[in-house]
Amino acid sequence: MPRRPIRDLPDELISQIAAGEVVERPASVVRELVDNALDAGATQIQLRLLAGGVRLISVEDDGMGILREELPLALRRHATSKIANLQELESVGTMGFRGEALAAINAIADCAILSRAQGQSQAWMLDGRSGELKPVARATGTTVEVKELFFSTPARRKFLKTDTTELAHCVEAVRRHALARPDVDFSIWHEGKLVEQWRACNAHANQDDPEKVELETAVKTRLEDVLGAEFIQQSVAVTATSSAGVRVWGRAGLPDAARSRPDQQFCYVNGRYVRDKVLTHAARSAYEDVLHGHRQPVYALFIEMDPTRVDVNVHPTKIEVRFRDGREVHQALRAALEQALAAPRAQALAHHANINVNASESLAASQPFNTAKVMGYQTPMSFAPSIFNRVEEPAHDFISHSSFESHTPANEAEDWPLGRALAQLQGIYILAENKQGLIVVDMHAAHERIVYERLKSQMDATQEAGEQGTYSIPSQPLLIPATFAATAQEVTAAETHVESLAQLGLEITPFSPQTLAVRSVPTSLTQGDVVELARSVLAELMQHDASNVIQRARNELLATMACHAAVRANRKLTLEEMNALLRDMERTERSDQCNHGRPTWRAVTIKDLDTLFMRGR
Ligand SMILES: Nc1ncnc2c1ncn2[C@@H]1O[C@H](COP(=O)(O)OP(=O)(O)O)[C@@H](O)[C@H]1O
Ligand SMILES: [Mg+2]
Repeated sequence: MPRRPIRDLPDELISQIAAGEVVERPASVVRELVDNALDAGATQIQLRLLAGGVRLISVEDDGMGILREELPLALRRHATSKIANLQELESVGTMGFRGEALAAINAIADCAILSRAQGQSQAWMLDGRSGELKPVARATGTTVEVKELFFSTPARRKFLKTDTTELAHCVEAVRRHALARPDVDFSIWHEGKLVEQWRACNAHANQDDPEKVELETAVKTRLEDVLGAEFIQQSVAVTATSSAGVRVWGRAGLPDAARSRPDQQFCYVNGRYVRDKVLTHAARSAYEDVLHGHRQPVYALFIEMDPTRVDVNVHPTKIEVRFRDGREVHQALRAALEQALAAPRAQALAHHANINVNASESLAASQPFNTAKVMGYQTPMSFAPSIFNRVEEPAHDFISHSSFESHTPANEAEDWPLGRALAQLQGIYILAENKQGLIVVDMHAAHERIVYERLKSQMDATQEAGEQGTYSIPSQPLLIPATFAATAQEVTAAETHVESLAQLGLEITPFSPQTLAVRSVPTSLTQGDVVELARSVLAELMQHDASNVIQRARNELLATMACHAAVRANRKLTLEEMNALLRDMERTERSDQCNHGRPTWRAVTIKDLDTLFMRGR
């Protein structure tokens, strides 16, 4: 990294730089100082704190350092080495560019900068109060010490929380940097004790694209170090580039890993941690179909895009950005996440013989059966592309038989990820056996998802084939129309929504003022209770009283239909039907969650069972 001089920004540039308060609490100082260390090319960064950072924040780095004659400039407002003109501001690649942070911090605390510039034999210390420069001893790099934050503004100091809380915020600030920079060592000390330490990881380069793969592998290791092994186990890799050239990579937590608070949602734009509504919304909508309710997904996502298409100069702390085309980024992120989350996981599971189970040794001995813990939801690290299969053509039966051969050789059956059906339990669960042990499937939940995905892809298929607005789900007339007693509202709804119903593959016409007749239903749903299906769809349509209801509430409508068409509890299934359902699950996107975001299956491995029975192996 070539050294650039620290210069005053030109006045016209100063006026363009988002102004405002930078320092709110110790963590704000930490963020700015770590930004600076990274911009200086540091490979090791140490943070030392006293009293949650209020008494001391010291950030030491091994970066390129600051020349003696430039030390006073570093503390001057609007003096920076990072940009010199507007053009550079528009494509800025460093964390900093405003030349304000050190000046702002120096105004509210006792500051000192100790630095030895690369190639220099002497280190110097600048006292921020007096401006005095003294020779000191240290290796190449910089230490910035900030003491007694808000010493002159007691009112501000009052707003600070306890030391523990402020410390947590400081750690979080470093964590955000650390996730994006696995090539840098970070350590955090509080009151002389080591609080966190994340070592730089040297991932092995891949021959095809050394740089990219190395970073991604390293980030995965760093994510594991910082967020825990569970984060990696419970997440899938994301990697996609949109047609607009927006690249999205990282890891997306499985629906099962969702939390009650949004505290593990990390988004980076060109390496900078940001909080952005467009990104949060895009992620939220990608999870919509697999995660319902108020659960918060976890993810660490890195967005790489043309820097001139994103403005980082909109907020004084640079935590917010403005995209030139928000839609372009929204679509890229959403599509990348949806793709990663859609793949059914059972297939990949089967290829990972060495499955992680988190049933602890003592569990079975000391506690009652803890299902949540023993049935550790297992997650592969990556997927073979072959499992991105489309949903099969609709089968005419309740549950498709197309995929199941009753006389499959046993060795082939062993390879089925969700195993071979053994029995039905309490009319609710299917029990199946695979190589690793037992698979338990919630049959209604699983079938509901399969039907839902099938309906969605049928609608998509005709939409792609036909002209705009002419798409519909393939339907089949009933030999004998099913009539039912209807309310006046139901009759009105059937009359006003003829077109919408047709798109949903339904034909429901008045038979008498109080009777409706179901004449056609979707081909794939002929075996269900067609009257219940008709009633629930009409009820749904009455709620969305609008002409473009299919566009607006398509997924809700299809989910309602799927719920009514799916196999109900207590319906006896033959082994053949159970196996057919399992094979359908293995092929169907998002089949690991039901339409309401709950899991459709769990695995109990032989190891889990051994633990339960305290059976040593
Ligand atoms: N840790 C550091 N190592 C090397 N140079 C630094 C360091 N911290 C600050 N500087 C120098 O001081 C200047 C001012 O820093 P700062 O006030 O944070 O503004 P900015 O980062 O926006 O340029 C930087 O441009 C950089 O040249
Ligand atoms: Mg800075």
